[in-house]
Amino acid sequence: MTGTDTHNLEQLAADARGRIAACADLPALEALKVELFGKKGVITALLKTLGGLAPDERRAAGARINAVRDELAAVLAERQATLEQAALDAQLAAGRIDVTQPGRGQQPGGLHPVSRARRRIEALFRNAGFSVEDGPEVEDDWHNFEALNIPADHPARAMHDTFYFPDGRLLRTHTSPVQVRAMLREKPPLRMIMPGRVYRCDSDVTHTPMFHQIEGLVVDEGVSLAHLRSVLHHFVERFFERKLGIRFRPSYFPFTEPSAEVDIECVFCSGQGCRVCKNTGWLEIAGCGMVHPNVLRNVNIDTERYTGYAFGMGIERLAMLRYGVNDIRLYFENDLRFLRQFG
Ligand code: FA5
Ligand code: MG
Repeated sequence: MTGTDTHNLEQLAADARGRIAACADLPALEALKVELFGKKGVITALLKTLGGLAPDERRAAGARINAVRDELAAVLAERQATLEQAALDAQLAAGRIDVTQPGRGQQPGGLHPVSRARRRIEALFRNAGFSVEDGPEVEDDWHNFEALNIPADHPARAMHDTFYFPDGRLLRTHTSPVQVRAMLREKPPLRMIMPGRVYRCDSDVTHTPMFHQIEGLVVDEGVSLAHLRSVLHHFVERFFERKLGIRFRPSYFPFTEPSAEVDIECVFCSGQGCRVCKNTGWLEIAGCGMVHPNVLRNVNIDTERYTGYAFGMGIERLAMLRYGVNDIRLYFENDLRFLRQFG
């Protein structure tokens, strides 16, 4: 081996050291290892040149090449250990669990405020001896209108903003058809409430196209308007757990006679007049009255012997007043910031 060859060997070793140190990851280091020591590697090629040298030159050159090879192998092994440790550290850091951190916690759901109000209303009426009944949301014309003394040409139909299906059936516009079904099914005495969804083409701060009503029906001998007043008055006081102004305003429903609407004092402005109560100071929560004799006759109840009263309340309205919600549409926007307040 000549002086130039020795110089080349040192140059090669210096290059290799630099490249080993610069290897950023294990695959790159592995490739370099092959390049240096593989079958066609640089060092391997150098060792092959020894065969062509004179014996005494061969010994000296072989010793130098071996020294460089051993040194580079050691540097490479060291670099490999460093990179392996770094890879392990990265893996551990990525999968790290800090057991001292407080838990993220469960976020339990809660009942929708309308469901809460509905359950509360049901409980109060159950305590007063009412049963809770159910009826279909897709109704026919007869149960929703005809049997309730609202014939096809009756102007009251215009008040209902009905959603019709092509086959003439409809989404019930109130829970009153459940009264009809109950009276056809059972004989008096009847004392029940009928909660559920109803639908009307209607939308503003106190109206939504789908809302909930609770129908009440009592049919027995000697039932009077005084009973109706007393039941609703007691209900309102218990539901709101406070004294609130309440008034019965003469009104008209084809299926009751006499008829009234029940208003309670607007809780947002204490009767002063505001956007929610449309500056009247009152909010309508129910319609009611004595069941019309025509309705009793339509379901074969003896009008000489029995009388009845009925009412229909808007659950969202009651819930708005109890929880201080000033726009009914908030109930149906599914905004968690709103709903969480009722947890
Ligand atoms: C009726 O629906 C009658 N069936 C009530 C009734 C039953 C009268 C039994 C007599 C005997 P009315 O359309 O006024 O009546 O609705 C009753 C209540 O439902 C209203 O007082 C109001 O609280 C609520 N309500 C009516 N329309 C809407 C609406 N679009 N959104 C939310 N609540 C409503
Ligand atoms: Mg009304």
